[in-house]
Amino acid sequence: MGRLMLRPNNYSSRSRFAARLNSSVSQQNMFIRDFIPEEQTSLRQVFMSSVHELTCGFYTKKQLDAWAPQTYDEQQWAEKFAALRPFVAVVDDRVAGYAALQDSGYIDHFFVSGQFSGFGVGSALMTHIHQSAAARAIPELSAHVSLAAESFFSKHGFWAAKRQSVMVRGVSLNNSLMVKRLLGELTLQVQHSE
Ligand SMILES: CC(C)(COP(=O)(O)OP(=O)(O)OC[C@H]1O[C@@H](n2cnc3c(N)ncnc32)[C@H](O)[C@@H]1OP(=O)(O)O)[C@@H](O)C(=O)NCCC(=O)NCCS
Repeated sequence: MGRLMLRPNNYSSRSRFAARLNSSVSQQNMFIRDFIPEEQTSLRQVFMSSVHELTCGFYTKKQLDAWAPQTYDEQQWAEKFAALRPFVAVVDDRVAGYAALQDSGYIDHFFVSGQFSGFGVGSALMTHIHQSAAARAIPELSAHVSLAAESFFSKHGFWAAKRQSVMVRGVSLNNSLMVKRLLGELTLQVQHSE
């Protein structure tokens, strides 16, 4: 479990605005922990906030409602998270974001709540995923990434292997499959240091 000092980033006027709104949390401690059973409702709130507040510049309202509908199958959602067992970012006892890493290296779900956007929560989750991948000797990370998060994943060394359009509840959404090779980098580093 990593404990990090939360700091605001200034990557856009939107995030600077969010940083001002959230100045009260800027000095709080953040930590990443494993998913606790029964907290899937908190994760749903993060998911809803993240999709509707942080990706609205890239998708229409109709697309957002199809991706993150207000009504959902609670049992199916609970079962999904019991199986995924995501990493959860906590700020001041509040769930601020979450992300899940499968043994295949596939990142399933990577969301930060709108309220905590731009404070390094996503980067802390990404660092945790890389540490977990290294511990599990996972050679490659991959994720289906929204248009809104593509530059964030690029910053963290991913590249878009495939751009695609997927149908979600009858509505078409564009995203991309992004990948990052991990073990190749380690091998190269070892070779250079010899
Ligand atoms: C993408 C996301 C996870 C980033 O989380 P975050 O906590 O706001 O990111 P951070 O504060 O850790 O920012 C880390 C870096 O990425 C950059 N960054 C973050 N979001 C960005 C965005 N949307 N566009 C461009 N850069 C972005 C920041 O400038 C920062 O750069 P720096 O380290 O050089 O200052 C978050 O915005 C999110 O949940 N988006 C909506 C959901 C989504 O699309 N998820 C992806 C899976 S489909």
